[in-house]
Amino acid sequence: MNYRIGSFEEYQHALQEATNSAETCWAGIASHFTWKKKWEKVLLGSFEKPDIRWFEGAQLNITENVLDRYAQANGRATALIWEPNDPNDPSRSYTWSNMLQEVCRIANGLRSLGVRKGDRVCIYMPMVPELLFSMLACARIGAIHAVVFGGFSALSLRERITDCEASFVITSDEIRRGEKNIPAKTVVDEALNAATAVRNVLVTRVSGAGVSMTEGRDLWMHEVCGHQPTTCEAETMDSEDPLFILYTSGSTGKPKGVVHTCAGYMVYTAWSFANVFQCDPGDLFWCTADAGWITGHSYFAYGPLLNGTTVLMFEGIPTWPDAGRFWEVIEKHRVTHFYTAPTAIRSLMTHDLSLVQKRNLDSLKMLGSVGEPINEEAWHWYHGHVGRKKCPVVDTWWQTETGGIMVSGLGGFMPQKPAHAGLPLPGIQLALLDQQGNEIAENEKEGLLVIRAPWPSVIRTTWGDHERCRLNYFAPFKGYYFTGDAARRDENGLYRIIGRVDDVVNVSGHRIGTAEVENAINEHPLVVESAVVGYPHEIKGQGIYAFVICTGDVTDMKAFSEEVAREVAHHIGKFARPDRVQVVAGLPKTRSGKIMRRILRKIAEGDYANFGDTSTLLDPAVVDRIVSDAKEMHG
Ligand code: WT7
Repeated sequence: MNYRIGSFEEYQHALQEATNSAETCWAGIASHFTWKKKWEKVLLGSFEKPDIRWFEGAQLNITENVLDRYAQANGRATALIWEPNDPNDPSRSYTWSNMLQEVCRIANGLRSLGVRKGDRVCIYMPMVPELLFSMLACARIGAIHAVVFGGFSALSLRERITDCEASFVITSDEIRRGEKNIPAKTVVDEALNAATAVRNVLVTRVSGAGVSMTEGRDLWMHEVCGHQPTTCEAETMDSEDPLFILYTSGSTGKPKGVVHTCAGYMVYTAWSFANVFQCDPGDLFWCTADAGWITGHSYFAYGPLLNGTTVLMFEGIPTWPDAGRFWEVIEKHRVTHFYTAPTAIRSLMTHDLSLVQKRNLDSLKMLGSVGEPINEEAWHWYHGHVGRKKCPVVDTWWQTETGGIMVSGLGGFMPQKPAHAGLPLPGIQLALLDQQGNEIAENEKEGLLVIRAPWPSVIRTTWGDHERCRLNYFAPFKGYYFTGDAARRDENGLYRIIGRVDDVVNVSGHRIGTAEVENAINEHPLVVESAVVGYPHEIKGQGIYAFVICTGDVTDMKAFSEEVAREVAHHIGKFARPDRVQVVAGLPKTRSGKIMRRILRKIAEGDYANFGDTSTLLDPAVVDRIVSDAKEMHG
């Protein structure tokens, strides 16, 4: 299999090759990287346990592949361009050599504070270069980074810090988002109000706002790292040593720490980036995802940098100073590849068309979409107004757990169909299962999306709880990785992702477990019980609908909804606040006490008729009452 596939014929050939002789193929791809020691075995283990190991016996450091390779070969070329929140502030750029030096300084600073291989370092920061450098500095010394998105509340941050027993936190004074500043350091202080294993907090100056520094615990990044040497020996890592932990939501109330390991993650993110986006020297790749999500890890940071591709990093938001900021930035820096989420497109579509039309977007060669299904209207707007009908749109389906893109058009030479992610990448053996777990062989069928065989960046474990990983992904269907999504295959074998079949909602591309939202709502003193479901939302993709049982009467519904929203913001973050709250007298439960969410989902989407079989309901009258109240609320 070629490192870079250049045509549809080559793709079809690679697909065959990767299915028939996976180990030979991946060994060939892996030979494009710098190893400290070569592997003895390409793939070990199976999905049954699961005990997958890739490139057993090899040793490496991913940062030598991200930084040293390019600093040596082409050190004066630009590696990173940073665009600040405020368009009036200067942008910054770093060459590969600069970046290696900055990373080494932080790596040495961390080592001087006693951070060692295997220690967990939690990063809670805005999209500033120091965030990227901190991730890479951890990787340099073998510390495991756990980046937490800056939109999470103090309690969520604490939960993650506690779960991975982080001994170290890297943060900033503030996070700037448009006109608003989030007091990141204060959030960290609040998170650390309870006992944790954290020894030090390293604070980066971003906005210059005053912060309180706890003596003996808190240190300034520039004081600790500013005078450190600019070289730093890279820790020798085994292939299967963890590279990072990233928390994501599942069906239960507790987020899962998804673990990715050094070698497999490196090989797959690099190779998938090279093939999906097909960047050439001189190109500028812009992934708008925050580094707090997997998209930010794999395609803002590791994937492009492993290929020596220059990346753009943007601190701000798409709607400030106006809703043309993305297009302004593309014009200003001459971005060639732009990768964003459908929710951003849908929200920007509602603004004045001249904001995009007035910009010179000639530099663009390719557009990407990620995180949720892209509806046809958004696809056509993106393709027509941003890509000016000359740029292919790659719709990329994947997950935190898959580490890299699983389904997508490659480089624009594959069949493109709006709302369809397309065909699997070579090496990704997709299948659809029926409810009984049998493979569906025919096209034009819908089923549960599973993957048959290991690929290098498959989830290895959930931090501290391997059994949970097994139960979630590998136990539902023996021998398969279960994605939690349903999909449909069209007459040509192209996949259209339908959405989650578990209790996970996708709000503006943010993955949220309904149980987590329910737990937060239940903390409200008036709330007895709640049930949360997703419903179609024009901009966000899905909105959050909360059915709530209260003690006593709620007189001021508006005030109550706001209190519920505040509770969710406090426990999770603002992005998880419910869009609709309905007070109900009871929830539709079966005789065994299970909530029939199917019915609530129908009501939430305004379909008051097609409830299916309701014969197992304990009290069918409950449904009638919820429906009549919902009709009254929403017309
Ligand atoms: C879930 C994973 C993968 C990076 C961002 C999200 C949904 C993701 C697509 C797409 C339709 C998509 C799926 C998936 N999803 N990409 N192109 N088309 N749906 O990562 O937070 O782990 O969420 O996002 O439902 O299971 P994540």
